[in-house]
Amino acid sequence: MADTALLQIEDLKIGFPARDGGEVTIVDGVSLSVNHGEIVGLVGESGSGKSMLALASMGLVPRPGRITAGSIKLLGEDTVGLPDRRMQDLRGGTIGMVFQDPMTGLNPVRTIGSLLSESVRRHQRVSRDRALEIAEAALTSVGIPAAHERLSVYPHQLSGGLRQRAMIALALVNDPAVIIADEPTTALDTTIQAQILDLLRAKLVAAGGILITHDLGVAAEICDRLAVIYHGRLVETGPTADLLAAPRHPYTEGLLRAIPRFDRSRPRLVPIPGQPPAPSMDRGACSFRPRCDYAMDACAKAPALTPDGADRSVACWAPIGAPVLERRA
Ligand SMILES: Nc1ncnc2c1ncn2[C@@H]1O[C@H](COP(=O)(O)OP(=O)(O)OP(=O)(O)O)[C@@H](O)[C@H]1O
Ligand code: SF4
Ligand SMILES: [Mg+2]
Repeated sequence: MADTALLQIEDLKIGFPARDGGEVTIVDGVSLSVNHGEIVGLVGESGSGKSMLALASMGLVPRPGRITAGSIKLLGEDTVGLPDRRMQDLRGGTIGMVFQDPMTGLNPVRTIGSLLSESVRRHQRVSRDRALEIAEAALTSVGIPAAHERLSVYPHQLSGGLRQRAMIALALVNDPAVIIADEPTTALDTTIQAQILDLLRAKLVAAGGILITHDLGVAAEICDRLAVIYHGRLVETGPTADLLAAPRHPYTEGLLRAIPRFDRSRPRLVPIPGQPPAPSMDRGACSFRPRCDYAMDACAKAPALTPDGADRSVACWAPIGAPVLERRA
């Protein structure tokens, strides 16, 4: 078991029905693995397929979407096509997720105590009272004050920061082997963001998991490895420090430029020019071509993700050679 990845996604494709009767591919041939104690950052702009990949790992691709190819192995067991009942056993027990939208993760008509204790009883053979004790301990462990009293409140009665902590507690209450955190701090103010990230980092390193973010700066602080996704495909992967010191894909380089720089008190964002492609855009050419400063004739054909030195891979006909990152202080 020591050599088995906690989570191994191979050549995964996810599609949605198109208006013309065909199918639009949202995630296209993604392979990604997470080992014990490893935090993998999945980064990319809005609409690139990050949440869909996460939901697929939980067996929760929203209908009428579906996994059209590939496998997702959780501790060696392929979960694609598993009966709902088996997937429910794994979800919340073996794999836990902090959802991008807290209200997706926290049923608004149930109290925090009943949400947590029900999850405990689904995965652990304990009494109702014991489950509530475990629930309370989980709330305390994520820094929620007066945890006992919070058991009887509804999600909307908590502040944004506490609600996010409650969702993390729910994701972690059964000590899952794999944790997926989807933009866990985007909706929070900066002070709470830092607290939640510290908390998640500790929990993620104790297990293993994926941190999804569109913020490469956040990923840089927390992740061991990064996978950069564009138009549903991975375009670059590698150890965080190497990838940031010398990005090889023009899109990664663009994301690094887009990290906010602080000029005294004036935050300055440098967005990547142009728009991300619509999912339905043709995939025959390199999807980044309309925004790429380095595009050339060869880019009319999409490059495959190929090994690029130790532990790295890139999907570009002409990977960048020079380091460009000015590290944030
Ligand atoms: N229910 C759906 N039906 C059809 N297309 C969908 C559905 N949900 C998502 N999509 C499309 O799938 C693509 C990927 O969406 P996804 O939510 O994974 O993006 P994301 O990378 O998580 O973006 P964000 O950073 O905004 O959260 C998007 O283009 C989106 O429009
Ligand atoms: S393949 Fe071409 S268009 Fe695509 S990122 Fe590389 S240089 Fe740019
Ligand atoms: Mg998302």
